[in-house]
Amino acid sequence: MSDHADGLQVLILAGGLSHERDVSIRSGRRVAEALRDQGLGVHVHDVDGELLGYLREARPDVVWPILHGAIGEDGAIRDLLGITGVSCVGTNAAGSRVAWSKPIAKSTVARAGLATPQSVTLPQELFRELGAKAVLRAILDRLGLPLVVKPATGGSALGVTRVIEKHQLPHAMVSCFAYGDTALIEQEAIGTELGISVVDLGDGPRALPPVEVSTVDGPYDYDARYNPGRSEYFVPARLSPAHLRAAEDAAVRAHVALGLRHLSRTDLIVDDAGTPWFLEVNTAPGMTETSLFPLAAQATGRPLGALYAAIVQAAASDYSRA
Ligand SMILES: Nc1ncnc2c1ncn2[C@@H]1O[C@H](COP(=O)(O)OP(=O)(O)O)[C@@H](O)[C@H]1O
Ligand SMILES: [Mg+2]
Repeated sequence: MSDHADGLQVLILAGGLSHERDVSIRSGRRVAEALRDQGLGVHVHDVDGELLGYLREARPDVVWPILHGAIGEDGAIRDLLGITGVSCVGTNAAGSRVAWSKPIAKSTVARAGLATPQSVTLPQELFRELGAKAVLRAILDRLGLPLVVKPATGGSALGVTRVIEKHQLPHAMVSCFAYGDTALIEQEAIGTELGISVVDLGDGPRALPPVEVSTVDGPYDYDARYNPGRSEYFVPARLSPAHLRAAEDAAVRAHVALGLRHLSRTDLIVDDAGTPWFLEVNTAPGMTETSLFPLAAQATGRPLGALYAAIVQAAASDYSRA
């Protein structure tokens, strides 16, 4: 295997059957273009009946799964790629499973000393058996308002609702259960939202510049993310250097505590006192034109393709070391 990414054959996995199929295809296309500009051979493939046959025939040097949602991010595809013996960009199956579940990721980073909003994780079945009214009352008594209700697994803010008044909670639960069978009901963290990308090229995890997210009107939902103009991004983020350092440190600690590899993006909210509140981490962060990871990477001044090629190279050499 060569010492330089130049000439490596990369297979990008994009698409998949999830609510975020479109986002994955757009992300995959962008990464493919950037890698081709760097002289890598790139092929993009969907997750379908031809994939394993293609892998056997083409024998790429590295596979980069850019799949969002279940299968792509829950460790399943990583397990399968693992048994084919190909080297992969990103977190292995075990780490992916932990990061994919927001409640499990929250308790893991909390054990490592990070702050994360108080929450209750509620499977729909239990909700029904105990009676919606009694459960919601107990939650409101304990957590108060405002709350954020979201699927325990998922992405792109699908099924996420802010609850400011009590009467909004039942509807928020219904919207959430449309996207998954377990709800995470969390106290709302108030402050500045940051997406912090972390990259590890084999010499330890490092945070890229934090990207501040601010929506022009309304919540940072699916539309606000993928329609240019609905969200504003600030790099550098408009926070003090000390608060930014604490947030970067939290993202790196989350990356380590969760056992992540090569790249991740932690979403957190920094309150007025400077405490970063961990919301979740993404092992396959979006790579579209409005996504936070490429924005952060561009802010380093290094061409995007050069960073992506270095990530591919790190994955290739991880494997040859293993
Ligand atoms: N506890 C919370 N407090 C404040 N805002 C939140 C909270 N949880 C989620 N949000 C908002 O909802 C968005 C989506 O939630 P997140 O946990 O990042 O899920 P995902 O991005 O996987 O859909 C966040 O980017 C943030 O704007
Ligand atoms: Mg998020």
